[in-house]
Amino acid sequence: MIEKKDNWFFISTENSSYMMRVSPLGHLEHVFYGGYIVPSSYGLDLIRGGEDVRLGDGTYYDEEHQYTFLSGMLLEYSTPGKGDTRESALIAEYDGGLITLDPVYDSYRILECKDYDVLPRVSGEGAETLEITLRDKVLPVFIILRYTAYEAEDVILRSAEIRNSMESELNLRTVSSLMLDLPDPEWELLSYDGAWARERMEHRRKLSPGLTAIDSKLGFTSSEHNSLIILARPETDDSHGEAIAINQIYSGNHQERVEVSPFGLCRVLTSINPFGFGWVLRTGESFRSPETMMSYSASGLDRLSTSFHRFIENHVEKSRYVFRDRPVLINNWEATYFDFTEKKLLELASTAAEAGMELFVLDDGWYGRRSDDTRGLGDWIVNREKLPSGLEGLSGKIHELGMRFGFWVEPEMVSEDSALYETHPEWMVRIPGRRPSPGRHQYLLDLSRSDVTDYLFQTLSSVFSSGIDYVKWDANRNMSDYFTSSPDAGCQGEFFHRYILGLYSLLDRLTTAFPDILFEFCASGGNRFDTAMLAFSPQGWTSDDTDLHERMMIQHGTLRGYPLSSLSNHVTASPNHQNLRKSSIEDRFNVACFGVLGYELNLLNLSSEELAVIKDQVAFYKEHRHTLQHGTFRHLPSSDGAVFWSVESDEEMLVLEYQERNEVNTGRHRMLRIPHADPDSVYRITRREKHIFREDLGDLWPAYSSVAHDTLDLTVSGAVLRTSGIALPPLFMGRGFVPSTRVLGDNGTDLYVLRKI
Ligand code: GLA
Repeated sequence: MIEKKDNWFFISTENSSYMMRVSPLGHLEHVFYGGYIVPSSYGLDLIRGGEDVRLGDGTYYDEEHQYTFLSGMLLEYSTPGKGDTRESALIAEYDGGLITLDPVYDSYRILECKDYDVLPRVSGEGAETLEITLRDKVLPVFIILRYTAYEAEDVILRSAEIRNSMESELNLRTVSSLMLDLPDPEWELLSYDGAWARERMEHRRKLSPGLTAIDSKLGFTSSEHNSLIILARPETDDSHGEAIAINQIYSGNHQERVEVSPFGLCRVLTSINPFGFGWVLRTGESFRSPETMMSYSASGLDRLSTSFHRFIENHVEKSRYVFRDRPVLINNWEATYFDFTEKKLLELASTAAEAGMELFVLDDGWYGRRSDDTRGLGDWIVNREKLPSGLEGLSGKIHELGMRFGFWVEPEMVSEDSALYETHPEWMVRIPGRRPSPGRHQYLLDLSRSDVTDYLFQTLSSVFSSGIDYVKWDANRNMSDYFTSSPDAGCQGEFFHRYILGLYSLLDRLTTAFPDILFEFCASGGNRFDTAMLAFSPQGWTSDDTDLHERMMIQHGTLRGYPLSSLSNHVTASPNHQNLRKSSIEDRFNVACFGVLGYELNLLNLSSEELAVIKDQVAFYKEHRHTLQHGTFRHLPSSDGAVFWSVESDEEMLVLEYQERNEVNTGRHRMLRIPHADPDSVYRITRREKHIFREDLGDLWPAYSSVAHDTLDLTVSGAVLRTSGIALPPLFMGRGFVPSTRVLGDNGTDLYVLRKI
């Protein structure tokens, strides 16, 4: 709901309010963002103090307004030069490098829906947009701020457009999509950082005076710092307290700045990273920033995740698979790497089909001269030595097994040793006269050029027409040697953003042309896990690290901002290929099933006992798949060293228990408490029975096999579950077994199913 009253603007969602007003001098002031307040409430004027405080030696607006210090105000979009010395939302140069601008209120519009057209397109169905135009006091430079309110999801989408109506050029250096000025600094900042194979590890820090920046300069969203940030009160946890989540819908260099001013004000800014960025606006031209989503919660962090999950699924994702159950897949990468033949692939596929898997994914190595990772990228033509019957032939044989078929591509890249490079060396990103630096022996194609994206569209269209159901779109290096030869670029600073716009237009064309293909994005694992990529492909490869201990942290961080249905998780081999850690296949499954399940190991090396276990897992997953892919994810209170996750749909709730270490002789029962259980319902709780392998118990095997075999079947009221919780059956901890003893071990898990009766 959006309203304007006098000089005030009100944006309301179901549980949040956002208020602004035009100040007596015309500046757009931020008044409030937080819990819902009825716009007609008495006392709104008292939310902010008046302009009656002097800021010491600060610059005031003019002699007639000696108490107007822009540095002391909460603003909606700030520019430098008129006294606000905090970080600026916009830095734009004119007249040989001048940067002072003074934007004041000009006009507004309220639209049903939204007509902001940037890629990726976020739907405005059911939403309302407030558009406020600011104009510089002297120059015809306009800033159009847009706020789209999604009531049910409690999300406000923000963006800014800069329009140059001067006779001369305006050179953009920094353009923010969101600026949010908060009146106090008592927040902690959560960010999601890491590197390859340890993506989106959650970090939480107290804010202190000065600037904190989270960013990527890798050219892509990056595994180093995701664009998701959360501000939380110090006391806020998963289910209590105030917090604000913010995420740019963007896949390139991004920056999130949080500044605490000397006067205790807190400014948040999201933008394309100013690092190397420039954009030339000629007379009459506009620049549209990417969009940023934000959400406020008064009841903890899980609530924010749910808002973002729903918003992404309902408004960002375009694929027809968004709400469909996603297939359980088998991927051959860690099963074979580059060493495969059609025969080997078909053996793997038929074993997978027997286990109930539904989609066979042929990973890297099927094309051109690709026998290892030093060659072949760019040549998207099947290698007939490896696959004599071509992709169509293989696809036909896989379909005969009752499975769907898809493959891996890495279209943005080229190897020096490739036919594409021989024909079009000028398409590689490189600076004339300098030797470009490789990453994984490969180079980027210049997607800022439309001849390159046109070529890729044609080449990929032909290979996507070979009877396939799925595509894994990978990108395995970061940007270097920044240079664009696009005739459209006004300056080299446009390279990064033009590349990303080229990528979006290519993905847009391909996903529109092939609506029946299920796309999955990947970038050295999770190097480009962002909301914008989800607009084109409803799922992404979360990380190359599939070790379950690491995965608990990676999935935790990823789920803070991205829906369960977007996390592609594979059960892989033990010892794990990234860290050699050993774990039980049952525990690997219990963690991987929170999202979209796949297997990526050589099934042909497994025993018939293990294959039978996998068959049971796949059957269990299919039975609960809708909940596991689309349910509401929450953290439950931890107990006795264990972490608990829940996922809930209308039909059921699944709860994961995870312990990092098995302790000895604790003498306690671990508690399961579910604060959101329905107090008026009675639940039946069962446990997914895990297969215990002989090697899990070694010498103790004979004793166990004759005693500890209880299945779990409990009836508990929601009031008990939410208030006191229940004691779980004992864990094996050093002395003997009783029939209810549970064997978890290190990195051990159990999975419970709760249904209302
Ligand atoms: C990346 C991906 C892997 C696999 C390989 C293939 O590393 O993350 O899943 O596809 O590329 O080269």
